[in-house]
Amino acid sequence: MFDFEKLVRSRCSIRRFLPTPIPREHLEEALALAQLAPSNSNIQPWRLFLTEGERTERLREALMAEVRAHPRELAPLPASFRAYRRELGAMVYGSMGIARDDEAGRAVASQRNYEFFGAPVVGILCMHRDLGLTDAVGVGMYLQTLVLGLTARGIGTCVQAALKTYPEVIRREIAIPEELEILCGLSLGYADPEFPTNHLKVPKQPVDKNVSILRTSQDTLRP
Ligand SMILES: Cc1cc2nc3c(=O)[nH]c(=O)nc-3n(C[C@H](O)[C@H](O)[C@H](O)COP(=O)(O)O)c2cc1C
Repeated sequence: MFDFEKLVRSRCSIRRFLPTPIPREHLEEALALAQLAPSNSNIQPWRLFLTEGERTERLREALMAEVRAHPRELAPLPASFRAYRRELGAMVYGSMGIARDDEAGRAVASQRNYEFFGAPVVGILCMHRDLGLTDAVGVGMYLQTLVLGLTARGIGTCVQAALKTYPEVIRREIAIPEELEILCGLSLGYADPEFPTNHLKVPKQPVDKNVSILRTSQDTLRP
């Protein structure tokens, strides 16, 4: 048994992986655990496509060819959330030794998303197009269970919305069925312990910034 609290606290996003392959049984154990996630009416809406070995290389090459030929910006966040991305960028790029005003350095580092940060295994997480936000909650619960199951086995992860930037390349390479929408990618493998960014503890808000507990009629919602 793993100490759950320790496990949750030990996870952080990994942005440089070792090429070491993941033992198949560890991957299968984590996948079987994630399969226990709850979902609306038990529809189990997650669809995950995993690549390893030659198929990861092929996907990496196809994405990087497109990135070089036709670079695209990450999907923008709504204005009221943009400061979070700026702050995170300062922390992540700062830990890589890239200065705030080094646009070229940041662009190169950002492109590492499409190389899966060197990960040997890549997941593309999808959901049926006809489903909605409530069902995406089930996919999120699946993803967190999978990530923690992998973390417990010493396998690092990075969830990647960036992989939605070139959906047509991924759809073509993996032959994703038309009825599925790509939600995000997941890079997985062993973390490079020498890379400082892999030890970055990104600060999280205090609970009361996100949660309101209402009991008496005087209790009001937090902004
Ligand atoms: C839905 C989602 C999409 C994300 N997309 C990316 C991404 O495209 N590239 C990246 O480097 N990190 C990505 N991340 C990782 C977040 O930046 C990270 O979870 C956040 O900064 C908190 O850091 P932590 O995971 O180390 O706690 C994503 C995480 C989630 C949950």
